[in-house]
Amino acid sequence: MRRLLRKRPALGMALLSGVSTAVGIVIVLVIDWFPAQASTASPQIDTLWDVLMIASVPIFVLVMSVALYSVFAFRAEPGDLSDGEPIHGNTRLEVIWVTIPFIMVSALAVYGWIVLDDIEAKQTDPLIVNVTGQQFAWRFDYPDEGKVKSTQLMLPKDRDVEFRVNTDDVLHDFWVPEFRLKTDAVPGLTTKIRLKPSRIGEYDVVCAELCGIGHSTMRAAVRVVTPEDFDAWIAKEQQSEGDGGAAAAGGDEAGAGRQLFTDTGCNRCHTLADAESTSAVGPGLDDLTANATAYGKEAKQSPEEYVKTSIEDPGAFVVPEFEDGIMPADYAEQLSPEEIDTLVKYLLSVSSQDKP
Ligand code: CUA
Repeated sequence: MRRLLRKRPALGMALLSGVSTAVGIVIVLVIDWFPAQASTASPQIDTLWDVLMIASVPIFVLVMSVALYSVFAFRAEPGDLSDGEPIHGNTRLEVIWVTIPFIMVSALAVYGWIVLDDIEAKQTDPLIVNVTGQQFAWRFDYPDEGKVKSTQLMLPKDRDVEFRVNTDDVLHDFWVPEFRLKTDAVPGLTTKIRLKPSRIGEYDVVCAELCGIGHSTMRAAVRVVTPEDFDAWIAKEQQSEGDGGAAAAGGDEAGAGRQLFTDTGCNRCHTLADAESTSAVGPGLDDLTANATAYGKEAKQSPEEYVKTSIEDPGAFVVPEFEDGIMPADYAEQLSPEEIDTLVKYLLSVSSQDKP
């Protein structure tokens, strides 16, 4: 068998490559690589992916076939320490292995450029959404819809959207897998992506750049809704922002505090039973009252002052076993004094509850 393989190596390799390529292509096409297609760019990108796969499998298979084939057919007999036959250049082969990859790569580059050009085409009257990444949460605001701010990304179906992506601290990467497109959030730059949501549903924004200890918790909800539902949501948000926390003052303070805790992204890092958060990036807050009393005494501050200081200046007191510099230090700018007050009261009230 090995003698035969040695005599007709090209035939053997071609046979092995051909069969493996066919099997490989079937496998890569059968695998369901991506989640639902929720933007108009998704089908184009999925097709591009399939074409890339179909082009890549034969190359991978050819290289592996030649290598494996040679290992098997041309391995030395036991005890054979002689040199192999010398090989000189083969011009025809060299021309082939330069020309074919050159044509393939060029064709794929042109195809990729055409798809990219189409996806990035300028739109008329897009919905502008500013996206801000921060360790470890996302914020969104809609500058043309009365400056509505939100921690969930609400989008109308079938309307062009332009995302303008920024970061407050380090590199993040704004990605909704269902939309397929992603872009880095780069300090000092505004990066953009344009897309059109095409499917009603709930998805996740994922941070796709390792940005620190809470990277894996850096997610936000995306909801694609009908244009009518979107307008209704904008109107409601405008109204509640117009109220300026009046709702918080009226009655349900714990509810307002809990909402603020989640909206501000505190839940991404801190465990708090009342807000059903379980992340352990930062210190757990279920024992906050006890800690605030103990540490506050050291710092000669009341528990309220201590918690307020900890929100506004996270480096003022770092709980043992946790690192300094992880918590964003700009909450004093992000939140109004009333909001911080609400948070302080909320945290102290819920952390002292249900103690045994
Ligand atoms: Cu932000 Cu990873």
